[in-house]
Amino acid sequence: MDKTFISCKNLKKSFYIKNKTLNVLNDISFDIEKGKTASIVGESGSGKSTIANIIANLLKPTSGRVFFENLSIFDKTRIFRKNIQMIFQDPYLSLNPKMRVLDIILEPLKIHEKFSKEKLLKKADDILQKVNLSNAIKNRFPHQLSGGQRQRVAIARAIILNPKFIILDEPLSSLDVTIGAGIINLLIDLQKNLGLTYLFISHDLKVVKYISDYVSVIYMGKFLEKALTKKLFSTPLHPYTQALIQSSFTFRKNQTKILLNSEIPSLLNPPKGCLFSTRCPFAKKICFNNRPELKEIEKDHFVACHLVKTSLTSLGSSKTTSSSL
Ligand SMILES: Nc1ncnc2c1ncn2[C@@H]1O[C@H](COP(=O)(O)OP(=O)(O)OP(=O)(O)O)[C@@H](O)[C@H]1O
Ligand code: SF4
Ligand SMILES: [Mg+2]
Repeated sequence: MDKTFISCKNLKKSFYIKNKTLNVLNDISFDIEKGKTASIVGESGSGKSTIANIIANLLKPTSGRVFFENLSIFDKTRIFRKNIQMIFQDPYLSLNPKMRVLDIILEPLKIHEKFSKEKLLKKADDILQKVNLSNAIKNRFPHQLSGGQRQRVAIARAIILNPKFIILDEPLSSLDVTIGAGIINLLIDLQKNLGLTYLFISHDLKVVKYISDYVSVIYMGKFLEKALTKKLFSTPLHPYTQALIQSSFTFRKNQTKILLNSEIPSLLNPPKGCLFSTRCPFAKKICFNNRPELKEIEKDHFVACHLVKTSLTSLGSSKTTSSSL
């Protein structure tokens, strides 16, 4: 049986600025199974929010399709408005500052359903309880809440219509670590209790490792590596993934240190060959001339690198030998 719940097929997005083309997404494809969490990680400007906005139907792709339970989301937009919700980086910006919490969380329900006033108030109480907020905040405005409370209100508003899929675009980046940990645990509980499926976008690999079932690594609008979370963190094969992991976790002695201290090239003038070639310590002649495609190196582990042929050729680890390169 095909377990695919959300499927993105060959997404491309270009912007046109002063007669120049900015190819922001380059053939992005991935699937998410029901009840699972897929994460996308990458540096700033790599295209993460562009993917999120396309799936949330806030932005049209230049080409490519997105399917929700095998239906194209661009064809039946009304169904998806209820079933696909998005939580943004900064809840302060995503919540209307002139509305009280009660009205903020009930607004989607008022648009999509017809309930009596009593039923609405009951729904509000239930949903506040689900996100561990006290009823006492119902009459407050967003500026009267802490950052963590604001993000919980944003989550309450997102789940009040019983969506099936939630896109979380850097939901923790405006919060401190302890508050962020509380939000992550809430998201995990909600997923278990409500059967939610998540697309989680972040540059924080520690959180990604904790919450995800599978991870895609994006660089300049292209996936460079895609794998089950356990596999990606135990055997990262792409030098860029290795660099990201090294910068977030304790560095292992038997690895080649890969520094990300040089600039990401401009999307207006991308490298002709491998997009990572200007920063890669392993780059060879072929890397500067030909762009490697994302290939399945072993089951469910995809890598876009000319020099990685099998998991034994993990560049930068002790397993690497000069003959394997
Ligand atoms: N409307 C637009 N017009 C022109 N360029 C855009 C537009 N929206 C995004 N971009 C460009 O597309 C690229 C990807 O942007 P995006 O916001 O998807 O990155 P991101 O990975 O989410 O970054 P961050 O981690 O900073 O949120 C960036 O170079 C950005 O400047
Ligand atoms: S293709 Fe070449 S430049 Fe690109 S990541 Fe692999 S080794 Fe580095
Ligand atoms: Mg973003």
